[in-house]
Amino acid sequence: MEHTTLVQHIRQQEKATPGATGEFTSLMNEIMVAAKIISLEVNSAGIGEDIFGLTGKINAQGEEVKKLDEFSDITFTKIIGQSGTVCAITSEEKDEAYIIPPEDKPGKYIFMMDPLDGSSNIDVNVSIGTIFSIYKKKSPGDLVTDEDLLQKGDEQIAAGYIAYGSSTIFVYSTGHGVHGFTLDPALGEFFLSHPDLVIPDQGSTYSINEGNWVVWDEAQKDLVSYLKEDAPSSGRPYKLRYIGSLVADFHRTLLKGGLFMYPRDTKSPKGKLRFSFEAAPMAFIVENAGGKASTGKQRILDITPTGIHDRLPLFIGSKKDVELAEERLAATVKKGGWFKWLSG
Ligand code: AHG
Ligand code: MN
Ligand code: MN
Repeated sequence: MEHTTLVQHIRQQEKATPGATGEFTSLMNEIMVAAKIISLEVNSAGIGEDIFGLTGKINAQGEEVKKLDEFSDITFTKIIGQSGTVCAITSEEKDEAYIIPPEDKPGKYIFMMDPLDGSSNIDVNVSIGTIFSIYKKKSPGDLVTDEDLLQKGDEQIAAGYIAYGSSTIFVYSTGHGVHGFTLDPALGEFFLSHPDLVIPDQGSTYSINEGNWVVWDEAQKDLVSYLKEDAPSSGRPYKLRYIGSLVADFHRTLLKGGLFMYPRDTKSPKGKLRFSFEAAPMAFIVENAGGKASTGKQRILDITPTGIHDRLPLFIGSKKDVELAEERLAATVKKGGWFKWLSG
């Protein structure tokens, strides 16, 4: 086995980037440290400190904040905020961006995170994760503006996630392939375990909260019905796999191929997942692994958000599966009836 550590790998990638100063390597290092702390906490949840359950607070999204959500948000904010590499941090758990004060020496990067993804799975020992995304400050001067916080998905310079599952795995891309590292719990070190990940062109599973059937539009129902049809020559019916943690559902999709969907519905008319903290980073990763990410109509990375908590529909995974979803959704729209809904 090759014993490349995450730190060595990041340094090698930075060396290959002209003009790189080491600031990016420092930032990635700090993300790794925070990830190890969360991983330890997740693995020992239930022992000692009571980390299960709710804090009693409601976040920017109107959702209940679990203790582990808060712990992860505070841990990442503290460590990244004092790293001297970022000038602002946005988080799913915070209404507004946290602007790094001058005494903490702001750096040139913007860090965005879903500190704890899959909150509903915390208390039941099912995989959860952290998602992050990194942009460069764009506007001149020291002030952090919307130009910095609301950049097009394509402007990401790196994105990644950490899955706290049967093992802890750190997956990241800086635009040069997608690489996965598994945490050796005895050594406390991440080792390269999944170099140059490539998503299969087509998969055999679909992943969606099918309990939402009654709130979907006709186009979405048609797509899922199609995937369930008995047509062995085209690989159908697809199998259903749904965990309810985007990190875990995405990680499986990346390794095995397939299609993950969270469409808009009448409960979440804009979609449920967030552009900055969930859709854009996963889109960056999937494209770097040869897959696709779409709203059903538009490439995710072509989108420039209008607010840090923007939500949108997400269809992500194998290239052929995402294309199939786009085609079928468009075909149902053409048949009429639901055009108004889908084009809204
Ligand atoms: P979070 O825990 O960060 O709020 O994210 C939950 C997200 C995502 O992880 C998952 O894909 C989706 O919500 C699950 O939603 P449903 O429970 O509606 O299926
Ligand atoms: Mn999430
Ligand atoms: Mn979250």
